[in-house]
Amino acid sequence: MFETWNKSKINNLFQKDIEQWFDVLNHGLEKDRGFDLSDPNIESIRAVIKKDYIDYLKSCGNNQNTYAYFILRDDGTIVSVCRIVIVDGKYYLEGLETHRNYYQKGYASKLLNKVLYELKRDNIKTIYSIVRNHNNKSLNFHYKNGFEVKGKDDEDTIFVLNVEDQVRKELFDHWAKNYNKSVIKSEQEETYPFAGYSKVKYQIIDIVTKRSFAHILDMGVGTGEIMSPLYNLGYKVTGVDLSEKMIDLAKKKMPNAMFICDTFQNSITKLNDQYDFIIFNYSIHHLEYQVQIDLLLKIHKNLSSQGSIIIGDVSTLNREDMNKLHEKYDSIWDDEEYYPILDIYQKSDLKNYYKISYNKINEVTGLFELVKTE
Ligand SMILES: C[S@@+](CC[C@H](N)C(=O)[O-])C[C@H]1O[C@@H](n2cnc3c(N)ncnc32)[C@H](O)[C@@H]1O
Repeated sequence: MFETWNKSKINNLFQKDIEQWFDVLNHGLEKDRGFDLSDPNIESIRAVIKKDYIDYLKSCGNNQNTYAYFILRDDGTIVSVCRIVIVDGKYYLEGLETHRNYYQKGYASKLLNKVLYELKRDNIKTIYSIVRNHNNKSLNFHYKNGFEVKGKDDEDTIFVLNVEDQVRKELFDHWAKNYNKSVIKSEQEETYPFAGYSKVKYQIIDIVTKRSFAHILDMGVGTGEIMSPLYNLGYKVTGVDLSEKMIDLAKKKMPNAMFICDTFQNSITKLNDQYDFIIFNYSIHHLEYQVQIDLLLKIHKNLSSQGSIIIGDVSTLNREDMNKLHEKYDSIWDDEEYYPILDIYQKSDLKNYYKISYNKINEVTGLFELVKTE
């Protein structure tokens, strides 16, 4: 069970919770502070350390830098804790600890993921974390959980994490195994969001197979559902996806394809080829409209001459139609997605670099082709 201890909660904690919270942190504290365990006064030293800790926790209840303490329980017992503090308007992860009896159970990662959901809900985009360079365990934890190094000095490494990307990665990792099943279900029911998915797939295949050779970049390759038939026909495929689990499944279908496990934005710096087709199938909608446009402009340089970007997705001709679609599917609509709208693309800078066409497949979905003109 996950709990948020905001300032008012911290000011009203039960003694039992304070004791449990301290018990998580109470591991080798005497040694950390340079005391000898054989010191005859060790019990009173321990009492002082404990008081320091509890005073600190209580001070968080009145400290303007406190965002919140976060707590994970297993069967009622606190097993993992951390806090987020605000310094100069930036959010820092601090004090992430797991109870010594509960190591190796993934509780710290689980707590971090829950915290990230909370932060995302509060529209917090980035968190930082400072780790001592000698603390290998913590350094590894940060690498494993998607943090990137922002800076380093003799003592510390400063990490940064994009909250939205990490939450999305978790969602897709979680969804990977059942992704294809949910696509089929939605498609069979002819409903948002995947009504027409197979038609989109075969139209993409038709466009690509007009060329006998092509290098295809699939942005958001997922389980490789769209790419694998083309791979099997001998087309060269590179797949980008932020979800490791999705890539694992795609790799099974396309063992010799190239993969980049990263966000769209980061992957661009890792691309070292020109592509005849760049595909975004049900993937670009995770980015806000202006971010979509900027990305599509940025990858212009990665397209071979007369290459094209193909976007299959929930999409409409204009905002009005998108609003109507939203109204119709309101109860299952995902408010965090920005489905492509022809009108927005046509009114943007994209028209200066691409010839834009749009084929409406059904009320939900459609296919864009942006052919490189310059
Ligand atoms: C709905 S799935 C579509 C998968 C595949 N293109 C298909 O048509 O079946 C979206 C995919 O995009 C990936 N994705 C979402 N946002 C991403 C981002 N910002 N960078 C890289 N991959 C992303 C997800 O991990 C997921 O595999």
